[in-house]
Amino acid sequence: MLVSRRRIARRVQALAGEIAASYRGRELVMVPLLTGSMIFLADLMRCLPLKMRVDVLAVSSYAGKITRNRQPRILYPEKLHVTGKHVLIVDDILDSGQTLAAVRAILRRQRAASVRACVLLRKHTALCLGMHADFIGFDIPDEFVVGYGMDYNHFYRNLPEIAVLHPSVIVTGPHGGNSHSRIAPS
Ligand code: IMP
Ligand code: MG
Repeated sequence: MLVSRRRIARRVQALAGEIAASYRGRELVMVPLLTGSMIFLADLMRCLPLKMRVDVLAVSSYAGKITRNRQPRILYPEKLHVTGKHVLIVDDILDSGQTLAAVRAILRRQRAASVRACVLLRKHTALCLGMHADFIGFDIPDEFVVGYGMDYNHFYRNLPEIAVLHPSVIVTGPHGGNSHSRIAPS
Protein backbone atom coordinates (compact mmCIF):
# COMPACT_ATOMS: atom_id res chain seq x y z
CA MET A 1 0.00 0.00 0.00
CA LEU A 2 1.28 3.46 -0.87
CA VAL A 3 -1.13 5.74 1.01
CA SER A 4 -3.48 4.48 3.74
CA ARG A 5 -7.09 5.54 4.29
CA ARG A 6 -6.06 7.45 7.41
CA ARG A 7 -3.35 9.42 5.65
CA ILE A 8 -5.69 10.22 2.75
CA ALA A 9 -8.41 11.43 5.12
CA ARG A 10 -6.01 13.63 7.10
CA ARG A 11 -4.48 15.16 3.98
CA VAL A 12 -7.84 15.80 2.29
CA GLN A 13 -8.98 17.67 5.39
CA ALA A 14 -5.81 19.78 5.39
CA LEU A 15 -6.10 20.48 1.65
CA ALA A 16 -9.68 21.61 2.16
CA GLY A 17 -8.40 24.03 4.80
CA GLU A 18 -5.90 25.51 2.32
CA ILE A 19 -8.57 25.81 -0.38
CA ALA A 20 -11.17 27.32 1.94
CA ALA A 21 -8.66 29.91 3.14
CA SER A 22 -7.76 31.03 -0.36
CA TYR A 23 -11.38 31.21 -1.65
CA ARG A 24 -12.94 32.68 1.49
CA GLY A 25 -15.88 34.95 0.62
CA ARG A 26 -15.90 33.90 -3.04
CA GLU A 27 -18.17 31.56 -4.93
CA LEU A 28 -16.43 28.56 -6.43
CA VAL A 29 -17.08 26.24 -9.37
CA MET A 30 -15.40 22.89 -8.83
CA VAL A 31 -14.63 21.08 -12.09
CA PRO A 32 -13.77 17.45 -11.32
CA LEU A 33 -12.23 15.39 -14.12
CA LEU A 34 -14.10 12.11 -14.32
CA THR A 35 -13.80 9.34 -13.59
CA GLY A 36 -10.65 9.19 -11.50
CA SER A 37 -11.34 12.17 -9.24
CA MET A 38 -14.86 11.25 -8.13
CA ILE A 39 -14.01 9.85 -4.69
CA PHE A 40 -11.47 12.57 -4.01
CA LEU A 41 -14.04 15.21 -5.00
CA ALA A 42 -16.72 13.68 -2.79
CA ASP A 43 -14.46 13.73 0.26
CA LEU A 44 -12.92 17.12 -0.48
CA MET A 45 -16.12 19.05 -1.15
CA ARG A 46 -17.71 17.84 2.07
CA CYS A 47 -14.85 19.50 3.97
CA LEU A 48 -15.28 22.82 2.16
CA PRO A 49 -17.53 25.40 3.85
CA LEU A 50 -17.82 27.51 0.68
CA LYS A 51 -20.64 28.44 -1.63
CA MET A 52 -20.00 26.24 -4.66
CA ARG A 53 -21.27 24.57 -7.77
CA VAL A 54 -19.92 21.40 -9.41
CA ASP A 55 -19.57 21.19 -13.18
CA VAL A 56 -18.14 17.83 -14.24
CA LEU A 57 -15.82 17.24 -17.16
CA ALA A 58 -15.05 13.79 -18.57
CA VAL A 59 -11.56 13.40 -19.98
CA SER A 60 -10.06 10.35 -21.60
CA SER A 61 -6.30 10.15 -21.43
CA TYR A 62 -4.79 6.71 -20.97
CA ALA A 63 -7.78 4.54 -21.88
CA GLY A 64 -6.51 2.01 -19.36
CA LYS A 65 -3.07 1.70 -20.90
CA ILE A 66 0.11 2.54 -19.07
CA THR A 67 1.53 5.00 -21.55
CA ARG A 68 1.97 8.72 -21.75
CA ASN A 69 1.76 9.16 -25.49
CA ARG A 70 -1.88 10.06 -25.96
CA GLN A 71 -3.32 13.53 -26.05
CA PRO A 72 -6.26 13.84 -23.67
CA ARG A 73 -9.71 14.08 -25.23
CA ILE A 74 -12.60 15.94 -23.66
CA LEU A 75 -15.61 13.64 -23.83
CA TYR A 76 -18.25 15.61 -21.97
CA PRO A 77 -19.72 18.23 -21.94
CA GLU A 78 -19.19 20.60 -24.83
CA LYS A 79 -20.10 23.63 -22.76
CA LEU A 80 -19.36 24.43 -19.14
CA HIS A 81 -20.93 27.27 -17.17
CA VAL A 82 -17.80 28.98 -15.99
CA THR A 83 -17.71 32.39 -17.63
CA GLY A 84 -16.75 34.98 -15.01
CA LYS A 85 -16.44 32.28 -12.31
CA HIS A 86 -13.61 31.19 -10.06
CA VAL A 87 -12.86 27.64 -11.13
CA LEU A 88 -11.00 24.91 -9.31
CA ILE A 89 -10.11 21.87 -11.44
CA VAL A 90 -10.00 18.69 -9.34
CA ASP A 91 -8.02 15.74 -10.65
CA ASP A 92 -6.59 12.55 -9.26
CA ILE A 93 -3.06 12.60 -10.67
CA LEU A 94 -0.72 15.12 -12.22
CA ASP A 95 1.67 13.16 -14.40
CA SER A 96 2.82 14.61 -17.74
CA GLY A 97 0.52 17.60 -17.23
CA GLN A 98 -1.21 17.21 -20.62
CA THR A 99 -4.63 16.72 -19.08
CA LEU A 100 -4.46 19.82 -16.91
CA ALA A 101 -3.03 21.89 -19.76
CA ALA A 102 -5.91 20.87 -22.07
CA VAL A 103 -8.56 21.58 -19.44
CA ARG A 104 -7.02 24.90 -18.41
CA ALA A 105 -7.08 25.98 -22.07
CA ILE A 106 -10.80 25.17 -22.35
CA LEU A 107 -11.69 27.03 -19.18
CA ARG A 108 -9.71 30.09 -20.22
CA ARG A 109 -11.40 30.04 -23.63
CA GLN A 110 -14.71 30.11 -21.79
CA ARG A 111 -13.43 33.16 -19.89
CA ALA A 112 -13.39 31.86 -16.34
CA ALA A 113 -12.43 34.63 -13.90
CA SER A 114 -9.67 32.43 -12.45
CA VAL A 115 -8.53 28.86 -13.01
CA ARG A 116 -6.63 26.85 -10.42
CA ALA A 117 -6.01 23.14 -10.02
CA CYS A 118 -6.09 20.72 -7.11
CA VAL A 119 -4.63 17.24 -7.54
CA LEU A 120 -4.58 14.41 -5.05
CA LEU A 121 -1.25 13.05 -6.32
CA ARG A 122 1.67 14.58 -8.13
CA LYS A 123 3.99 12.07 -9.75
CA HIS A 124 7.71 12.59 -9.77
CA THR A 125 7.54 13.01 -13.57
CA ALA A 126 5.38 16.12 -13.18
CA LEU A 127 7.92 17.58 -10.79
CA CYS A 128 10.71 16.89 -13.28
CA LEU A 129 8.75 18.47 -16.12
CA GLY A 130 7.91 21.52 -14.01
CA MET A 131 4.16 20.89 -14.26
CA HIS A 132 2.10 23.01 -11.95
CA ALA A 133 -0.90 22.52 -9.68
CA ASP A 134 -2.01 24.97 -7.00
CA PHE A 135 -3.06 22.45 -4.35
CA ILE A 136 -1.34 19.05 -4.06
CA GLY A 137 -2.20 16.14 -1.78
CA PHE A 138 0.86 13.90 -2.00
CA ASP A 139 4.04 13.67 -4.04
CA ILE A 140 4.58 10.08 -5.19
CA PRO A 141 7.22 8.21 -7.19
CA ASP A 142 6.69 7.42 -10.87
CA GLU A 143 4.62 4.25 -10.35
CA PHE A 144 1.22 3.29 -11.70
CA VAL A 145 -1.26 3.54 -8.83
CA VAL A 146 -4.86 2.47 -8.33
CA GLY A 147 -7.58 2.82 -5.71
CA TYR A 148 -9.46 5.74 -4.14
CA GLY A 149 -11.09 6.32 -7.54
CA MET A 150 -8.08 5.57 -9.72
CA ASP A 151 -8.20 2.66 -12.14
CA TYR A 152 -6.27 0.30 -14.31
CA ASN A 153 -8.43 -0.86 -17.25
CA HIS A 154 -11.48 0.36 -15.30
CA PHE A 155 -10.79 -1.88 -12.30
CA TYR A 156 -9.67 -1.19 -8.72
CA ARG A 157 -11.37 2.21 -8.30
CA ASN A 158 -13.17 0.88 -5.23
CA LEU A 159 -10.05 0.14 -3.17
CA PRO A 160 -10.24 2.47 -0.18
CA GLU A 161 -6.48 3.13 -0.11
CA ILE A 162 -3.95 3.97 -2.83
CA ALA A 163 -1.82 1.05 -4.01
CA VAL A 164 0.88 0.47 -6.59
CA LEU A 165 -0.22 -1.83 -9.40
CA HIS A 166 1.70 -5.10 -9.35
CA PRO A 167 3.66 -5.77 -12.58
CA SER A 168 2.00 -9.18 -12.95
CA VAL A 169 -1.38 -7.48 -13.32
CA ILE A 170 -0.01 -5.24 -16.05
CA VAL A 171 1.34 -8.21 -17.99
CA THR A 172 -1.66 -10.52 -17.66
CA GLY A 173 -4.53 -8.01 -17.48
CA PRO A 174 -7.13 -7.87 -14.73
CA HIS A 175 -8.97 -11.06 -15.75
CA GLY A 176 -9.21 -12.21 -12.17
CA GLY A 177 -11.54 -9.36 -11.31
CA ASN A 178 -11.20 -6.69 -8.69
CA SER A 179 -9.22 -8.64 -6.11
CA HIS A 180 -7.14 -6.91 -3.43
CA SER A 181 -4.63 -9.74 -3.39
CA ARG A 182 -3.43 -8.76 -6.86
CA ILE A 183 -2.33 -5.31 -5.73
CA ALA A 184 1.27 -5.00 -4.65
CA PRO A 185 1.79 -4.38 -0.93
CA SER A 186 4.35 -1.60 -1.36
P1 IMP B 1 -1.27 13.56 -17.48
O1 IMP B 1 -2.15 14.15 -18.53
O2 IMP B 1 -0.09 12.81 -18.05
O3 IMP B 1 -0.87 14.53 -16.38
O4 IMP B 1 -2.09 12.38 -16.80
C1 IMP B 1 -3.04 12.59 -15.86
C2 IMP B 1 -4.17 11.60 -15.99
O5 IMP B 1 -3.70 10.29 -16.30
C3 IMP B 1 -4.88 11.51 -14.67
O6 IMP B 1 -6.05 12.29 -14.73
C4 IMP B 1 -5.19 10.04 -14.53
O7 IMP B 1 -6.50 9.82 -14.99
C5 IMP B 1 -4.27 9.31 -15.47
N1 IMP B 1 -3.17 8.67 -14.72
C6 IMP B 1 -1.87 9.06 -14.67
N2 IMP B 1 -1.15 8.25 -13.89
C7 IMP B 1 -2.02 7.31 -13.42
C8 IMP B 1 -1.86 6.19 -12.51
O8 IMP B 1 -0.79 5.89 -11.98
N3 IMP B 1 -3.00 5.49 -12.25
C9 IMP B 1 -4.21 5.79 -12.80
N4 IMP B 1 -4.39 6.83 -13.64
C10 IMP B 1 -3.31 7.59 -13.95
MG1 MG C 1 -7.86 11.38 -15.32
